[in-house]
Amino acid sequence: MKTPLLERYRALIDLPAHTRTISLHEGDTPLIPMPRLAQQLGGGFELYVKYEGLNPTGSFKDRGMTAAVGEAAGRGVQAVICASTGNTAASAAAYAARAGMRAFVLIPQGKVAAGKLAGAVAYGARVLQIEGSFDDALSLVVEASQRTPVALVNSLNPHRLQGQKTAAFEIIEELGRAPDWLCLPVGNAGNITSYWMGFQQYHALHGSGLPALLGVQAAGAAPLVLARAVEQPETVATAIRIGKPARGEQALAAAQESGGSIVAASDEAILAMQRQLAAEGIWVEPASAAGLAGLAAEVAARRLDLGGKTVVAVCTGHGLKDAEIVASQFTAPRPVAAKLADLVRELETE
Ligand code: F0G
Repeated sequence: MKTPLLERYRALIDLPAHTRTISLHEGDTPLIPMPRLAQQLGGGFELYVKYEGLNPTGSFKDRGMTAAVGEAAGRGVQAVICASTGNTAASAAAYAARAGMRAFVLIPQGKVAAGKLAGAVAYGARVLQIEGSFDDALSLVVEASQRTPVALVNSLNPHRLQGQKTAAFEIIEELGRAPDWLCLPVGNAGNITSYWMGFQQYHALHGSGLPALLGVQAAGAAPLVLARAVEQPETVATAIRIGKPARGEQALAAAQESGGSIVAASDEAILAMQRQLAAEGIWVEPASAAGLAGLAAEVAARRLDLGGKTVVAVCTGHGLKDAEIVASQFTAPRPVAAKLADLVRELETE
């Protein structure tokens, strides 16, 4: 049997002693070489996708949730709560179910991908749709968790970061050192903060080097690029439809200290990158293509020279999470008679 993620990295993770092991065998996701996409982006560098969509509930959130839910369970808390654009909700629901706890998840009005909502419901969470944005829902759960005995499991919870930083350890161990660049989508900014924590910690212990971080927001939800809150964020990448990131300051500091930056990618560029990734066999949800969409734009504008470098793109969630976005782009399959001659005719037409 596989060792649970937090046990594998026990020596590097700072969690209270009471934390219980609540695991679904998260982490240990593949680092997939993407030679064709690297060529399409100009070539001359090595590109890998860290495919976090292969976690148990289909997103990277499971790394942090095993820690946050395990800590809450160890304290004897009976319920967890979070605000979510969908993936955190599904992950919190699954780990709460595993721990025998209740989960309350608050989602913003509309715009939550059906696959995520279905996950939260399937795992037995109580789903509450707030008449407001993700940012409104987050303020509410923070207050609710202060007044009632439910544990907050958004990435404001420091234990989440302890779990999520393990992705940086896995990347270093697989490459033998840190990559030169790491690009990833930024929403509430917990993940970029976690990666930076993980890379710094491993480097301090083993001299593994530090990547420059390229954090990418969606252009319609880019408060860190605009340096102001966005009251009505809009993007097809609904996972990162966030106007006031909770860990925004830390994300900016991480990008700057690493020698990288935070940039924005348009919805068109995000969807185009989603197709490019799928054309090499990796289907991710739109937000997960944002990191590479931002990287591609920086390279095209000659702000970034990747010659001889190693780049890792974090693809945070599986394409199945948001099947509608793809379904809405094609016309329904044409019916074909169940006859060989008809099928052969189809195969011979373009
Ligand atoms: N990619 C995906 C697929 C996400 O679901 C999220 C965040 C991010 C990237 C950004 O990560 O917030 O740590 O900067 N989703 C949260 C949620 C907000 O509720 O599922 P971040």
